Amino acid sequence: MTYKYEYFIANWKMFGDFSSLKIINSVNNYINKIKSRKNKVIFCVPSTLVGHFSNRLKKSKIIIGAQNCHYLNEYGPHTGSINSKMIKSAGAKYVILGHSENRADGDTDNIINNKIKSAIKNNLVVIFCIGETLKQRKQKLTNKILSLQIDKGLKLVKNLKKIIISYEPIWSIGTGIIPAHKELTETISFIRNKLNKKFKKKHSVKIIYGGSVNAKNVRKLIAIQDISGFLIGGASQSGKKFIDIIKNCYM
Ligand code: PGA
Repeated sequence: MTYKYEYFIANWKMFGDFSSLKIINSVNNYINKIKSRKNKVIFCVPSTLVGHFSNRLKKSKIIIGAQNCHYLNEYGPHTGSINSKMIKSAGAKYVILGHSENRADGDTDNIINNKIKSAIKNNLVVIFCIGETLKQRKQKLTNKILSLQIDKGLKLVKNLKKIIISYEPIWSIGTGIIPAHKELTETISFIRNKLNKKFKKKHSVKIIYGGSVNAKNVRKLIAIQDISGFLIGGASQSGKKFIDIIKNCYM
């Protein structure tokens, strides 16, 4: 059994209420049975659930994260907003930032950069999402787009100690389509080289993959070098589907 697949991160999106804790409890029961010390199972849940779930899961191996936060570090007149300090105090240890669904809702690279800096300041680990559209891929702009997202999103970020990069091609999210082996291998390797160059030395930043991950295609995805885990949307809303993904990584 290999423990290469370190991160299994659930992105619940706009899903879940207090009763959804049973989904996480079923995953918790499963991971208690597999004796891996290294794996991190993280549920990024809506802000409404971060506090409650963090308290209820305090003694478990499950880690709770949030899915977004405001870019300002201080309290302020921003009705309906929640900043990184607030999600941290509610119990989140991780936060997803730069997700394409939030980019589509208006998050610019500059806003994402400020969110990342604020999250790091508050000692959260950032799951930084980058990815291209299908049109950009077809026009062979993937590397250029990813490079810009990395440069702008990580501007003035000194190191990658608090960053996990999640490569999420937009055309894969929720579509059931995953990149071909070669495409994904090349893109992950491009991201690794880009980070090595930008941060001037080799480092062990983790790169994960997200986009339509399920129990079936995860067998193909684990064949890709240098992927340390998965960001899982739809399939994380079912305990069984999520458990099957973890199981299939180790069979
Ligand atoms: P998906 O979502 O697994 O439903 O494609 C992934 C994501 O958006 O993080």
